[in-house]
Amino acid sequence: MAKNTLTLIDNRVDKTYEIEIESATIRAKDLRQIKVTEDEFGMMSYDPSFENTASCKSGITFIDGDKGILRYRGYPIEQLAESSNQLEVSKLLIDGELPNEKEFRKWQLDIQSNNAVPEPIKDIIQAFPKNAHPMGTLISLVAALSTFYPEAKNITNDKENYLNICRLIAQVPILAAHFYRHSQNLTLIPPDNSLSYAENLLNMMFDGDEKKLHPNIVDAMDKLLILHADHEQNCSASVMRNVGSSEPDPYSSVSAAASALYGPLHGGANEAVLEMLGDIQTADDIRSFLDKVQNKEVKLMGFGHRVYKAYDPRAKCIKKAADSVFAITGTNPLLDIALQLESIALSEEYFIARNLYPNVDFYSGLIYQSMGIPTEMFTVLFAIGRTAGWLAQWKELLSDDEQKIARPRQIYTGYGSRNYIDVSKR
Ligand code: SDX
Repeated sequence: MAKNTLTLIDNRVDKTYEIEIESATIRAKDLRQIKVTEDEFGMMSYDPSFENTASCKSGITFIDGDKGILRYRGYPIEQLAESSNQLEVSKLLIDGELPNEKEFRKWQLDIQSNNAVPEPIKDIIQAFPKNAHPMGTLISLVAALSTFYPEAKNITNDKENYLNICRLIAQVPILAAHFYRHSQNLTLIPPDNSLSYAENLLNMMFDGDEKKLHPNIVDAMDKLLILHADHEQNCSASVMRNVGSSEPDPYSSVSAAASALYGPLHGGANEAVLEMLGDIQTADDIRSFLDKVQNKEVKLMGFGHRVYKAYDPRAKCIKKAADSVFAITGTNPLLDIALQLESIALSEEYFIARNLYPNVDFYSGLIYQSMGIPTEMFTVLFAIGRTAGWLAQWKELLSDDEQKIARPRQIYTGYGSRNYIDVSKR
């Protein structure tokens, strides 16, 4: 029977090593035995930006990038987007199973009863310039929450962790909505526990505006929150795990994860897509824009993905949700540009050869814009959905006996030892 091992021959010293294979993977630490002389540190693997490195074992989200498959705890994203809701999906991601009615009601009550944002936080919100970027304020406010819940540092206490998970899921959308109202010179709208999670978010932003809280809009927002909830070891989830591994409170880890999400290569792409579409005024501009992309002068934002080498299944779901929103708001004028851009890009060798397809961010901004949400809030909405995923990853990290503080190694390329030179002699 074939052995589940890798045989490596170090030709430098003609030595052979047998390394165990588990899940088609080898443990990088098994390379450390490979040395020329005994006093060496031993061999490492070099993987800038971790393109081929598994940092953990996880049962939360499964992605098949070649087939465009995404499942949360085994459930296809298409079924969850169609039949579930954000609160139920957050429970699924964090605890591993779909809750029954009684479990869901308790989860909902535990979150609703922890939605009282500390009063001084509202003063901090008022202190922000009204034109501050909402992601900068969200990152700051979530970190500030940690100062009001000092006991959250007790991350070995499951009850404490559950309480802070509930507070974060409850309060992140409130912080976001409160800053939005502040930025618009409007009074803050308190959470309303008679509303669903998505409806409550929209109500805190738009204060009962009938059109903005139309059932189609609420349903689309709920779907968007589900579609953004988790995506295995993406950049921000990796940050959540890295920061979480040094064992601060979860507010500090979520704030760090949100900082990673802010970047235009990650969650900030939805905002960048709208700016890109806005710059492409007419169909004729599409050609010259795509030429600039192929000359590597600009990126086609909302396209491409480290894992998906097929159409992002979330983009398909979002395109479907868009129709129900546009039925209420009227079609977004940028939609035609987006559809033409997609159609041309998907037919051109540059994009085909690089497996560049629309990702989750390509269409989401068009829906948000049609909902009357300012472009700068788009990534904040991504963060609201992704908070559940970050917390699920954090909780799984804490219960993984193989995990300890993250501390990668390096290949040193700097100077050898050299003596200090007085400034007069430099
Ligand atoms: C998210 O990881 C996740 O799961 C993230 C996410 C999640 O849910 O958490 O899915 C959310 O972040 C989605 C991605 C949003 N970002 C964007 O839309 C920004 C535009 N996309 C690119 O920046 C890029 O596609 C990335 C960052 C998403 C992925 O980059 P990779 O995997 O590092 O790919 P790469 O840069 O090595 O690109 C391979 C080739 C290069 O060309 P060559 O050097 O081979 O000639 O493809 C080109 C790249 O130049 N390329 C693009 C492109 N993306 C890749 N060219 C033009 N436009 C693009 N968008």
